[in-house]
Amino acid sequence: MTSLLSTATGPLRGVAAPPGDKSISHRALLLGALAVGETVIEGLLESGDVMGTANALRALGVDITRGETGTGAPRYRVNGVGLGGLCEPSEVLQMGNSGTGARLLMGVLATHPLTCVLAGDSSLSERPMARVTEPLRRMGAEIQTREGERLPVTLHGAAEPVPITHTLPVASAQVKSALLLAGLNAPGATAVTEPLPTRDHTERLLRHFGVTVDVKQEEGGAQTVTVVGYPEISAGQVTVPGDPSSTAFPVVAALIVPGSEVILEGVCVNPLRMGLYETLGEMGAEISLKNRRDSCGEPVADIVVCAAEGGLRGVEIAEERAPSMIDEYPVLAVAAAHARGATILHGLGELRIKESDRLVAITKGLAACGVTAREQGDTLTIEGNGEPPPGGATIAAGLDHRMAMAFLVLGMAAKEAVAVDNGDVIATSFPSFPAFMNGLGATITGMKEDR
Ligand code: S3P
Repeated sequence: MTSLLSTATGPLRGVAAPPGDKSISHRALLLGALAVGETVIEGLLESGDVMGTANALRALGVDITRGETGTGAPRYRVNGVGLGGLCEPSEVLQMGNSGTGARLLMGVLATHPLTCVLAGDSSLSERPMARVTEPLRRMGAEIQTREGERLPVTLHGAAEPVPITHTLPVASAQVKSALLLAGLNAPGATAVTEPLPTRDHTERLLRHFGVTVDVKQEEGGAQTVTVVGYPEISAGQVTVPGDPSSTAFPVVAALIVPGSEVILEGVCVNPLRMGLYETLGEMGAEISLKNRRDSCGEPVADIVVCAAEGGLRGVEIAEERAPSMIDEYPVLAVAAAHARGATILHGLGELRIKESDRLVAITKGLAACGVTAREQGDTLTIEGNGEPPPGGATIAAGLDHRMAMAFLVLGMAAKEAVAVDNGDVIATSFPSFPAFMNGLGATITGMKEDR
């Protein structure tokens, strides 16, 4: 495992295109597999998580090949087998670190009469699956899990699936998507009510593939999303826009490194992913979206960000914003560590069951870097004094890519360099992160190889 060291240097400057969106990449592969005929995907994120989904689909009989565009960029061809056309795999489906890959694929498999075993790494094997297994059983799937409804699971998909109506106990795009994908191969209407709107990439991409998706607003901000089974899924072309969650790292880096000015091109600016950007605006950041356009039903823009010369200020953020920035709290905590005053973030219960317990990991990591932070219940409080944090620590990233990247960003403007023990884990979502950041002027170096 390679440790990485991030040392403060001069301003970050330049124009760069962040890698493809992880959520949309998984969905493009899955819907491409369920369509009949060839879907061509450009901009697919080539990271551990997404390649895990591609390999699982290959094991299910879907031909997926990688070629190149005229400019040498990757171009994937997915030879869709059509709804019901997947084959029983002879091997365990290895979902690696990916909660999205595992949960969405379980949705697809629940209404295909096949037996499959899904496994994950030690982080994914600790994450709760009851939120998907329970409703998928009601659709007719038989699912055996390890103690506590955890991976590995053996799933026998329903031969005669039943559509369901389900209300999500917590806002989760993964669970909503798993049920909508299951509903595609079930007769009648499958309806999912979510308490707060979560990322709607499945809905947008389904429409892009020609499938009707109904969305009805309910009382108190809830909404119900419905698909009707056995639609025609039309294979076609998908261009995956840049990932706003990956873009969050260079954005926060540019805000905290004095004199920086960075343009991040071609980023998905879906409003249900923009919580961090809104929050940073409230903290005093100037971030503008230029050259707005549309790609396969998703809004896209170039993001222009300059260092917050007047400094950032602490803010208090309510629970309702959590779904729109659920993956961004580690890097928001880094921005808060540079801000003047307390930042108080509410409604973070879901962070305890991400790739690590992020509430604990953020608090410990900040403390190691000399920043006062505390978690109490579902609330995280970070005390900044408007000065660069001391830094000078080695952070145990575990198997959490976003913790690793967030603390390397902290090191870019800390008084002393910050190391993360496991840089390899970054390949889960942003394999080119060190080179990408160094290309903008950061100094991230490999420290050692210890095996
Ligand atoms: C994702 C949804 C989110 C997010 C994850 C990707 C998705 O999880 O944390 O990284 O692609 O649907 P939840 O839906 O469980 O909150």
